[in-house]
Amino acid sequence: MADLFSKIATDSILQAARMGRETGIYPYFKPLSETEGTEVVIDGKRLIMIGSNNYLGLTTHPHVRQAAIEAIQKYGTSCTGSRFLNGSLELHKELERRLAVFIGKEAAIVFSTGYQTNLGSISALMDRDDVAICDKDVHASLVDAVKMAGCQMKRYRHNDMEDLERVLKESTGSPCMVIVDGVYSMGGDLANVPEIVALCKQYGSRFFLDDAHGLGVMGPGGRGTSWHFNAINDVDLIMGTFSKSFASLGGVIAGERDVIDYIQHHARPFIFSASMPPSNAAAVLACLDVIEADPGYVQQVHRQASKVRTALRQMGYNCGESVTPVVPVYIGSEMNTVFAWKSFYDHGIYVNPVLPPGVPPNKSLLRTSYMATHTDEQIERVIKAFYEVGTYIGLIEEKSSTSA
Ligand SMILES: Cc1ncc(COP(=O)(O)O)c(C=O)c1O
Repeated sequence: MADLFSKIATDSILQAARMGRETGIYPYFKPLSETEGTEVVIDGKRLIMIGSNNYLGLTTHPHVRQAAIEAIQKYGTSCTGSRFLNGSLELHKELERRLAVFIGKEAAIVFSTGYQTNLGSISALMDRDDVAICDKDVHASLVDAVKMAGCQMKRYRHNDMEDLERVLKESTGSPCMVIVDGVYSMGGDLANVPEIVALCKQYGSRFFLDDAHGLGVMGPGGRGTSWHFNAINDVDLIMGTFSKSFASLGGVIAGERDVIDYIQHHARPFIFSASMPPSNAAAVLACLDVIEADPGYVQQVHRQASKVRTALRQMGYNCGESVTPVVPVYIGSEMNTVFAWKSFYDHGIYVNPVLPPGVPPNKSLLRTSYMATHTDEQIERVIKAFYEVGTYIGLIEEKSSTSA
């Protein structure tokens, strides 16, 4: 019998990782010894963090920290069971009520991670004869969710409405759901929600919006991408995570009461996995308090991201279609991307290099993202580093008129 582990010795990803570790240019799994939101310490070196999803900077907010501490003191550290049985606290129910109101849907349930939320919701609703119609750039958790559901998966070109219509037309005989990200996690661009809504109505398809990067950031008061497009009643299901703007861990699915009740009774990751720890739930509730009391956080994250995006475009960087706090910098070759990552690291800036298989070959990028709590001084240092690194390694041209 062939040995199952024989593939490990020849695995190309592992070989590349080992080579990177040996040459000191391996950008992944770097342990942080300190993190206070906008700055982190790695190997004793202090860096400005522009690679986090902590968009509102609330992981260190005093009210959020205190709520998590008090929840541990009141309930302990874990629920040690599924929501289905012994793992439901009043805290989870309160969070679900608050989130349903915040998102603007009849009902909501919370899962222990965003990943599980997608797996659970889609696999509960979709069966073998159904068709999941996914944008080409949807998050991996949605692709895995469709695989778990065992239904047909059809893809259309990213945000290409003609291609979506083509797929909808050829699928009219089956129950369908169009599945998209609200904010694309790598490109920082938005789904074309108004046109997707119109096409779903025309062809009778349901519409699922993964708003992991939109909830807390987009729309009035951070209520999400569907609010940004004034389409809250036209999206059937809205999913969100707490691992980004909500400074915690977990996920939510919101929609009509009967649909949410159905998901609650059929979603295997909801039923067969332990519920969100009390401190995680309390942290999300505290974030809602902060966001609802002070819309300044939502406004500030856009202000800071927009300053960087404008400056980078003026320098000649390609930031694609970004209109959100996620600002990609398209570089192309894998070598240049890793080299750029290392140069930013040496300049005291933490960025995320995104390489194949995360992106197609020669489409590598630096994913940068901004926080409401980045100071103006930090933003200026980031812009200056982009100018210095970019001219040093030839990503942009040196311009005498560029103020950096
Ligand atoms: C678009 C999208 N959906 C879902 C997830 C999964 O969320 P979580 O990290 O909470 O499991 C992520 C996380 O990166 C994401 O970017």
